[in-house]
Formats: sequence, structure tokens, C-alpha cells
Amino acid sequence: MRPVLVLNGPNLGRLGSREPDVYGAQTLEDLAALCRETGRELGLSVEVRQTDDEAQLIGWIHEAADGKIPVVLNPAAFTHYSYALRDAIAQRTAPLVEVHISNPNAREEFRHTSVVAAVATGTIAGFGMRSYVLALHAIAELPS
Ligand code: DQA
Repeated sequence: MRPVLVLNGPNLGRLGSREPDVYGAQTLEDLAALCRETGRELGLSVEVRQTDDEAQLIGWIHEAADGKIPVVLNPAAFTHYSYALRDAIAQRTAPLVEVHISNPNAREEFRHTSVVAAVATGTIAGFGMRSYVLALHAIAELPS
């Protein structure tokens, strides 16, 4: 099965208790189970990771680039200011889909800017945890 990394940035380990009115009541483990199940249906071997650490996230993006592994990435707050993450994504060798649970464009002004969007294959935002399901479908349909 084709491997896919589903990478999650800071504070997403707190899904379920974090601002449930914005991010819903499901936990990161619920999200991971949903992604793995979707992967099974699509013939993808999905591994879900989360970190609050920018260096760790960049290291995983390098790993994906070296292994030509497609990525579903929720950069969380790094979306809005991490040029280091953007530069890592620019080295990608396979599709990378930026995802967001909420719709950042419908929220505070600072969330309207994504410094990573231009180097991603595409962006899916605003569909709750379904954003990840849609991103995995996109990866399954894209040529590797
Ligand atoms: C988020 C949106 C970001 O603005 C925020 O910093 C997050 C989560 C989302 O999934 O909706 O941590 O990426």
C-alpha cells in the first residue's frame, strides 16, 4: 500500500478539549482512526503524527521529501508565520495537501494568511475532520 504521512502541528494534540465550538469534540486519536480507516478504503497506508515542535515537524517534512511520501499537513498556527516550514515544504517530491479543521479565512485577520499555501499542492479547509478525508481522497487520485 502507498504510504501517506498525516502530520499535525501545535495544539492539535488537544483536540476534544481545545475550543470544541471551533474544532469539535473529537480527539486526535479519533482523527487518527478516521484517517487510517479512510486510508484502508483508498489503498493507502496512513501514519498520523502530531507535534508542538517546529523542528520536529520540519524533520518529518524532510523525511517525506527524501522518501517521496505524500503528506496531508495541518500546520496549525505555523501556517500563518513559519517561513522555515514553508522552505521545507518547497523541497517536497510528492503531493502535499494543506488542511484545516476550521475555515481560517472566516476567522481572525491573522489567520487569513497562509505562508505555506503557495508551496502546497492544494488546500482544504473548513470541513471539520472531513477536511482530512477529502485530502486523502485527493492524494489517492493524484499521480504519485
Ligand atoms: C487550524 C487553524 C489555525 O489557524 C490554528 O492556529 C490551528 C488549527 C485548523 O485546523 O483549523 O491550530 O489549522
